[in-house]
This record gives sequence, C-alpha cells and structure tokens, in this order.
Amino acid sequence: MQSLTSTYHLSNGVTIPIVGFGTWQMEDGPTTVHAVHTAIETGYRHIDTAAAYQNEGSVGKAIRESGLARSDVFLTTKLQNRDHGYQATHDAFKRSLQALGVSYLDLYLIHWPNPIAFRDRWQTVNAETWRAFEELYEAGLVRSIGVSNFRPHHLETLSQSARIIPMVNQIRLCPGDVDLKTVDYSRAQNIQLEAYSPLGTGLVFDVPDLQSVAQKKNRTVAQIALRWSLQKGFLPLPKSTTPARIVENADVFDFDLTQEEINQIDNLTDCCDQALDPDKTNF
Ligand SMILES: NC(=O)c1ccc[n+]([C@@H]2O[C@H](COP(=O)([O-])OP(=O)(O)OC[C@H]3O[C@@H](n4cnc5c(N)ncnc54)[C@H](OP(=O)(O)O)[C@@H]3O)[C@@H](O)[C@H]2O)c1
Repeated sequence: MQSLTSTYHLSNGVTIPIVGFGTWQMEDGPTTVHAVHTAIETGYRHIDTAAAYQNEGSVGKAIRESGLARSDVFLTTKLQNRDHGYQATHDAFKRSLQALGVSYLDLYLIHWPNPIAFRDRWQTVNAETWRAFEELYEAGLVRSIGVSNFRPHHLETLSQSARIIPMVNQIRLCPGDVDLKTVDYSRAQNIQLEAYSPLGTGLVFDVPDLQSVAQKKNRTVAQIALRWSLQKGFLPLPKSTTPARIVENADVFDFDLTQEEINQIDNLTDCCDQALDPDKTNF
C-alpha cells in the first residue's frame, strides 16, 4: 500500500513524495507554523511554498522545530515574478534559502512563465532565468528544478535554450480542470506533473458527482478528489490549516476508485473553475 512517504522518481533519479502539503494563502506566523507542524506529525514529508506566499520563514521554522533531519523533508519553493532574469534569480534564490533557514532546496520552480513586467520578452527572460536555475542545480544547491503554470508553448520555447529539461511542471489540476495538452506534453518530456489546487481551492465540495462517489465509497469529497489525482499519476498538493482536514487529506491510500468512477470524474467539466491563462495574468 502506498503512503505519504511513497515516492515518484523524477527524470534525474531524485525521489519525491507523492503528496505534498500546500501552503498558499497561509498567513505567515503561528498559523503556518502550526499547520506545517501538524502536517509533519501526520506524516507529510513534502512541503510546497513560494516566495510569493510570504511564509517561507514560518515554513522553515516549523521544519526545524520538527526535529526531522533536513534530508527527511522534501522542500519546494518558487521564484516570484518580479525576480525573473539571470542575476535576479541568483539573488532571489539566496533570499529564499535564507528565509527558509536551509542550505539547499529539493525543488525550485519558476512560478509563472509570463509575468506582466516581462510580457514583451518573456522568451529571452525565461532563457536567462533558466540558465541561473541550471547553475544552481549543477552547484548542488537544489536537487531538482522545474516550472509552474507552463503550457506547451512555454516549455517548447524554453527547450530551445535549455541544457536541462525541467523535472517538474506544477499546474492546476482538479476535477473539471485538466489541461490535457499540457498534461500530454509534460508526460512526453518525462516531466512530473504536480497538481496544485487539487481541491479546486475549496470548489470540489459542492460538486454532486463527487458527493455521490464519496457517499458510495464512504469517503469524503476531499479524499475522492485526492485519490483521483493520485490514480491519474499526478502529485496533489492539498492545503489546509485545519488539523482534522490535514489528517483526512492524508488518509487516501487504503482504497481505490474503479475505472468507472475515474471516468465519471474525468468527464466533469466547468465544475471547479479553470486555471488562469498565464499569458493574460495581471501580475
Ligand atoms: N504554482 C501555483 O501557481 C499554485 C497556485 C495555487 C496553489 N498552489 C499550491 O497548491 C496548494 C493547494 O492549492 P490551494 O491552496 O489552491 O487549495 P486546495 O488544496 O485545492 O484547497 C484548499 C481549501 O480547501 C479547504 N480544505 C482542505 N482540505 C479540506 C477538507 N478535507 N475538507 C474541507 N475543506 C478542506 C481549505 O480550508 P482550510 O485551510 O480552512 O482547512 C482551503 O480552503 C497551494 O497551497 C500551493 O502550495 C500553487
């Protein structure tokens, strides 16, 4: 049976726990520290934060206080939009390490491919940003590097200058919001998909089909959405600051959805909103 410590292998051989703990919209300070404590006590060994979440300090504090060896936690953070570019990336990476209080990262991601500040030249700016990512990786400061919110044309453009193919693409993946083109493209490049907002940032709970599957399986809607994500081969990153929910979201390994149930969820459309178009964001 799988568990929170089961792993996928990234293209460079690094292992990554198949569920991560999300920390977006978690207030810096005791809220985040308590939530990450609870997650670690529950058995989560993979934490997802970002410079833009402004809670790296609290995430790092909670990991240190947990008493776990650094190597027992898979830690991801992301480069924020205003820090794109070669030197700015190096500087931002140092700030993230310092805020987290760690000497290396397990995964560093470009958070968005096309920030509004660089919209007229995102291709060259991403190439320069990625060159810095490759250097950080080769210097051993980060064990794997990847991207987030990248669609096929962003990945394709990056591959024209990249020496290293991203190991991860973190995109919005939840019932009713699966961008098959990006999923297929990423898989063809051996890029692991991480599923952000696996609970639709709270929107999955009102979906009748998910409620009926949950009732049939005697599980919660959250557990059905997360089980679906895992059976699709995604890596879900559920977020919660509520201890009972943090535990509930980890209890997803002792049952399977049937192919019919998976198909039913695959067929959902427009139930949980859609990912933002990364070429049209206003940040
Ligand atoms: N790369 C990107 O651009 C990007 C974008 C968005 C998210 N992410 C990552 O993905 C993570 C998850 O996405 P998300 O934060 O959008 O949301 P999510 O995990 O899809 O949903 C979180 C929401 O659902 C609630 N919830 C969680 N478990 C529940 C349960 N068992 N029963 C009922 N309600 C439950 C939470 O409430 P409480 O907290 O109040 O319990 C919160 O309101 C983020 O935290 C972040 O790490 C990345």
